[in-house]
Amino acid sequence: MELNMRGQVALVTGASKGIGKAIAEGLAAEGVNLALCARGADLLEAVAQDLQQRHDVRVLPVSADLSSLDGVCSLVQQTVSHFSTLDILVNNAGAIRAGSLFTKPDEDWQTDWSLKVFGYLRLIREIFPLMQAKGGGRIVNIIGTAGRQPTAGYIAGGGANAALMNMTKALAEEGGPHGILVNAINPGPIRTERWDTIMDTVAAQRGQSRQETEAAWMQGYPLQRPGEPAEVASLAVFLASPLASYMTGTITPVDGGGVRCI
Ligand SMILES: NC(=O)c1ccc[n+]([C@@H]2O[C@H](COP(=O)([O-])OP(=O)(O)OC[C@H]3O[C@@H](n4cnc5c(N)ncnc54)[C@H](OP(=O)(O)O)[C@@H]3O)[C@@H](O)[C@H]2O)c1
Repeated sequence: MELNMRGQVALVTGASKGIGKAIAEGLAAEGVNLALCARGADLLEAVAQDLQQRHDVRVLPVSADLSSLDGVCSLVQQTVSHFSTLDILVNNAGAIRAGSLFTKPDEDWQTDWSLKVFGYLRLIREIFPLMQAKGGGRIVNIIGTAGRQPTAGYIAGGGANAALMNMTKALAEEGGPHGILVNAINPGPIRTERWDTIMDTVAAQRGQSRQETEAAWMQGYPLQRPGEPAEVASLAVFLASPLASYMTGTITPVDGGGVRCI
């Protein structure tokens, strides 16, 4: 399928690893120029060089901490001064830690929501007027199934995800008249560094092997395995493309069938 994206410019956050890296790869393969963000400069630089060489696209690595307003503004400023335009925003950088209401201290909530909730909203707020001025754009928010499937042990993640799903739909209403289409993907368990850390922690808590823990975790999933980052990326690339021209405010799970609501 020809996605007609060659020459466009996308900003992908959390692009040095996992799902963000796979989305950057998918967009680069379609000929999309990229601004990539993460905090760690070395890994990000290596990803940028690799994509630039293999796909013949322009790639700008920007090291910034997106949990602060300064980090968000600096990223947008560097992206716009480098490319002079922006067609696509993929909000992906997030790392909410597990814990119940009674074990997770206020500082953890604040730090985690500063990135996943405020980071996403601030980036959209900065980029929306640019897209509006150029007559449209695509925003893809990578959220997570915990927003639809609450658990006590991941209350901060579930709450943040529910808020972001709500805001995705609200911003779709705001963007529609300007040609700005806002959609979301809810990944289920996806095999990334983040997933590995979660599995190792749970395995240690349960006194099980990593393999036993993963097998038990996946039992309720029709596909009975964690997903791969590329399986999220293929949908993200489609949603960012001109072909997804009559989709906005959607929230699509990529979760191996794990979430059972209609
Ligand atoms: N993996 C899953 O099973 C899963 C499931 C549901 C939802 N999700 C969501 O999908 C998104 C990506 O998850 P992932 O598993 O791919 O994560 P990951 O492998 O841990 O990668 C996270 C990326 O975000 C960057 N990052 C972290 N903190 C940052 C900050 N303060 N400012 C800028 N960049 C930052 C990291 O680089 P640096 O550390 O160098 O900054 C890295 O590039 C997250 O929003 C996550 O909640 C993942």
